[in-house]
Amino acid sequence: MRKKIVAGNWKMNTLPAEGVALAKGVAAGKGEVCDCVNFIVCPPFTHLHSVVETLKGTNIAVGAQDCATEVKGAYTGEVSAQMIAALGCKYVILGHSERRQYYGETSETLNKKMARAYENGLTPIYCVGENLEEREAGRHFEVCKQQIEEVVFNLSEEQFENLVIAYEPVWAIGTGKTATAEQAEEIHAYIREVLRSKFGAKAEECSILYGGSCKPSNAAEIFSKANVDGGLIGGAALKAEDFLAIGKAF
Ligand code: 13P
Repeated sequence: MRKKIVAGNWKMNTLPAEGVALAKGVAAGKGEVCDCVNFIVCPPFTHLHSVVETLKGTNIAVGAQDCATEVKGAYTGEVSAQMIAALGCKYVILGHSERRQYYGETSETLNKKMARAYENGLTPIYCVGENLEEREAGRHFEVCKQQIEEVVFNLSEEQFENLVIAYEPVWAIGTGKTATAEQAEEIHAYIREVLRSKFGAKAEECSILYGGSCKPSNAAEIFSKANVDGGLIGGAALKAEDFLAIGKAF
């Protein structure tokens, strides 16, 4: 059975006290959500520590939104995977389209970040997805395949067992435009097929999340699809009530 996951990517939102309040709100309502749903919240670096402390004793995991390519040393402004793990985080989002687009992340940098994550026992949530131009040109399959081949195919089988994938079409992120459930299923099934070509039956165990304007009103339909194992939620993760409602959508 694949893990069902609802992960909140808070991006560059919330001040520390607001983040703690949001985490408390999620924790307060988690009892109403099926235990079968794994909740993860990914706050900014500045409040990872306080959110980890806030969520101690709950079954809500904490992840970072990125990590450094290097182990340690003179890399001003960077945060290492070891630092993130030392705080008690279990996950790290890698390859988010905003990082690829605004900060020039390539498969080369992502291979290093993936290695650092695994060295420190973090589970990467590896993001793939096409932009609008690529979708309109019918290149979405090819784009996702390449993003997987160039990074995920370098993992060992053991590493692959600890990987979450998020399909996030760039045209649906923060735009209010969601992929239809059929579009999501089509590409999730394709991504799983690509994974199967390298990792065989283990591909059946890999959770593939949908991200892009996922909200309480559309989550149930998207999550009902066979190859959609949950969501990576941006805007709707900033309100405890909405995030919890998405968790209840399974
Ligand atoms: P939105 O849910 O705000 O569209 O963001 C999706 C996303 O990028 C999550 O990582």
